[in-house]
Amino acid sequence: MSNIHIPKTWEISEREVTPEAAFINRRRFLTTLAGAGLSIAGASVLGYPTESEAKTPPQIDPNLMKFESFERNPAFIKVDRPITDRAVAAKYNNFYEFGGSKSIWEAAQALPTEDWKVEVTGLVRNPRTYDIDDFKKKFPLEERVYRFRCVEAWAMVVPWLGFPMKHIIDDVEPTSEARFVRFISYYNRKINKGPGRRTSHPWPYTEGLRTDEMANDLAFFAVGIYGHELPKQHGAPIRQVIPWKYGFKGAKSIVKIEFLNYQPKTFWNTLIPHEYGFESNVEPDVPHPRWSQASERMIGNGPAFTWKRRKTLLYNGYAEQVAHLYDG
Ligand code: MTE
Repeated sequence: MSNIHIPKTWEISEREVTPEAAFINRRRFLTTLAGAGLSIAGASVLGYPTESEAKTPPQIDPNLMKFESFERNPAFIKVDRPITDRAVAAKYNNFYEFGGSKSIWEAAQALPTEDWKVEVTGLVRNPRTYDIDDFKKKFPLEERVYRFRCVEAWAMVVPWLGFPMKHIIDDVEPTSEARFVRFISYYNRKINKGPGRRTSHPWPYTEGLRTDEMANDLAFFAVGIYGHELPKQHGAPIRQVIPWKYGFKGAKSIVKIEFLNYQPKTFWNTLIPHEYGFESNVEPDVPHPRWSQASERMIGNGPAFTWKRRKTLLYNGYAEQVAHLYDG
């Protein structure tokens, strides 16, 4: 996240941010030209690209397992903008455990995802440890196309595959004191080199929600994307997707979920509290201290200045489903 400001170890001035982004995008543009045809998206039933992927096989790991049986949730088949090309989404990532640029997709292949376990603990009646197959067996998998909005003002639209977080709530039964939830990402200092000097970063990456936010139908755990399992750079094998909040609220590669009676400290909020609040809903009228949030750019092939600009929507377009959570 070139725009997310990591103080001290990784100080980049505001003036430097734009050239860096332009540099990365110029490189991507050249790669795109070299890969001729990359930007021409074919269409599957849902409209996400298949043809372009076939033309550029190295873009996506061909060994990613494809999901055979899942429902497309009819309430989330389409949004008001086109689905992002899967190769674009897979090569423009924020995953700080693997570095501070958008180009971490190769480094992220070092993430060991075998025998993955997710421990759910804290103020619950039935603490549990799940493996990924448990999730697939216990909770019917569904596909949902969601808008996704990064706090840095870039956006995408992707079809996630997974299940609503509320299924876990039903399974573990939090007690009445459990008002907050902490989500903890995988971290191993030998594997996750991170950006800059790691000592000043509050690893592991953690995020948090209120329990009633987690219980909202939109709050989702993704185990797949575009019909296949999550590539490592997207947070394999399981990540949060909270579509009405900025993207950093969705932790990747989750290993632990804790129900708490206090608001937990989180990664970005600990590093820079005045820029990254705990709530962090998408709100066009509330600027980031260093840039406006009134509009966003849909990531695409080619340099960033060619990306389509859209007006930011309140709660990222999900006000009907979530505005009541913030009454008063
Ligand atoms: N989760 C972890 N563990 N580490 C991260 O650096 N970055 C966040 C979020 N989850 C991040 C993370 C941010 S800032 C964004 S915008 C999204 O992941 C990006 O998700 P994507 O790379 O799949 O598009």
